[in-house]
Amino acid sequence: MRGHTSDMDRIMELCDAAAIPVIEDAAHSLGTKWNGRNIGTIGRVGCFSFQSYKLLNSGEGGILITDDADLAARAVIMSGAYEHNWTKHRVPTEAFEPWQNKLPLYNTRLSNLSAAIVRAQLPEIERRFRDGRRNHDHTAALLEASPWITVPAPLPQEARAPDSIQFLLNDMSPAQMLAFVDEAAARGVKVQVFGLTKDNARTFWNCGFLTDVPPLDAMRATLERTCDVRLPARLTPDDCTKIAHALTQAAATATTPKAA
Ligand SMILES: Cc1ncc(COP(=O)(O)O)c(C=O)c1O
Repeated sequence: MRGHTSDMDRIMELCDAAAIPVIEDAAHSLGTKWNGRNIGTIGRVGCFSFQSYKLLNSGEGGILITDDADLAARAVIMSGAYEHNWTKHRVPTEAFEPWQNKLPLYNTRLSNLSAAIVRAQLPEIERRFRDGRRNHDHTAALLEASPWITVPAPLPQEARAPDSIQFLLNDMSPAQMLAFVDEAAARGVKVQVFGLTKDNARTFWNCGFLTDVPPLDAMRATLERTCDVRLPARLTPDDCTKIAHALTQAAATATTPKAA
């Protein structure tokens, strides 16, 4: 999520022990590395999004990657390669032929237009990683000066590719957190507090389709004070300094008792 990764060693260890195949939802973490290895290449399948907020943006679309020819063949056919349309591409026939007419076709193909838009951006990837991480780390260092804000450090094995910054608000009441959001907006910076934003899609308690969810009190407490601010790679360090100052000032103002 957002250029971060979980502890992939632990996830692989647990899943390997239980013979569970790992599908990495790396939709938002293209370029992030774990122990020097690209996220999305550790599990059996990696998925990346090209939706408009992502590092590579074709408006909509995405890809999955795998080194398993059989799985790739099934995915391509199910994406809608009907009537031997897969022969138009350089693919191993022996992996595809056994699946011909044996699978449902969901028609979730990435369009040629989206693919062409993504290809043109490939030479930009390295610069976007570099500038995104520079913006993140620059902003994080300035935010850390505020006693009200903590930016969680990366895990030692993690090299992030951020397009935004997440931080925790310390010791603020819900009213102070709401005041912080308003004060930041008044300074031109949009902050989302995951736990306070109505209908936020990152909070498990808004996933009405989940059943039997345990209380997860520790996760709820963390999400309730987790903030998110976009920091696209096109911003300059000077832009990021202004954003960081707006946030630290907003935190100071929101926590100052009002004069009677
Ligand atoms: C972790 C994660 N998974 C999935 C998605 C959805 O990607 P898409 O809109 O391309 O389906 C996103 C995008 O926000 C994401 O961050």
